[in-house]
Amino acid sequence: MKLEDAIRNRKSVRAFLPDPVPRETISKIVDLARWAPSWGNTQPWEIVVADGIKAKQLADAFEEEGQKGASPRPSINMPVNFAGVYKERYMNLGKNLLTFMGIERDDKQARINHYLNMYRFFGAPCVIYLVVDGELNEPYSCLDIGSIGTTICYSALMHGLGTIYLAASMHFPDIVRGVLDIPRNKKIVIGIAIGYAKPGAPAAIFRSDRAALEEIFRFA
Ligand SMILES: Cc1cc2nc3c(=O)[nH]c(=O)nc-3n(C[C@H](O)[C@H](O)[C@H](O)COP(=O)(O)O)c2cc1C
Repeated sequence: MKLEDAIRNRKSVRAFLPDPVPRETISKIVDLARWAPSWGNTQPWEIVVADGIKAKQLADAFEEEGQKGASPRPSINMPVNFAGVYKERYMNLGKNLLTFMGIERDDKQARINHYLNMYRFFGAPCVIYLVVDGELNEPYSCLDIGSIGTTICYSALMHGLGTIYLAASMHFPDIVRGVLDIPRNKKIVIGIAIGYAKPGAPAAIFRSDRAALEEIFRFA
């Protein structure tokens, strides 16, 4: 796969087949992604994979929290308020995605189902959790996590797999910690759901847009 094709073709997948991904494939994906850059080559990431029964346990527990209307309690602060153009882009994503999926604005139940489905990793059989040592400088090591996370997404694409970064996968880190046996001194930063995209599903076809080059770029 050409690098340009990988960059242009990667997108978040929100509908997966339940087919398990061979552990050998996941290992190969992560083995390649290890070459991502990090600050001072510290490679502060630890990668913990939930598949099979573990992924199901997480999905069941998250969905239960979602059904109860529990507020997220992430270990890394999540953005809550957006202003101006950022709010506009955030709102546009939600509107365009739900419209593309055929979910009407006033169909409250369909929206709730979409969010509950997010807690089930949109059907993905596997989630790759990116974890850092709690001793590390948190905001800074998140740069490194972004570096390996996105490299994992490209590596997965090369192996014919779809991915999505899921903030929803770290709404309840205490649950993740318990199910995946992650010690208390480690911070769970984010999970990336991975699996085979469901052919023909609008949520697997949807593509988000981007701001024009002139909007985000200039020579000083
Ligand atoms: C840190 C992070 C967390 C995200 N969390 C979610 C999420 O919880 N639910 C979701 O549907 N998409 C999530 N996304 C996917 C973004 O919505 C998506 O990357 C963005 O809309 C751009 O679309 P693309 O990935 O298809 O290019 C997340 C992306 C990132 C980088």
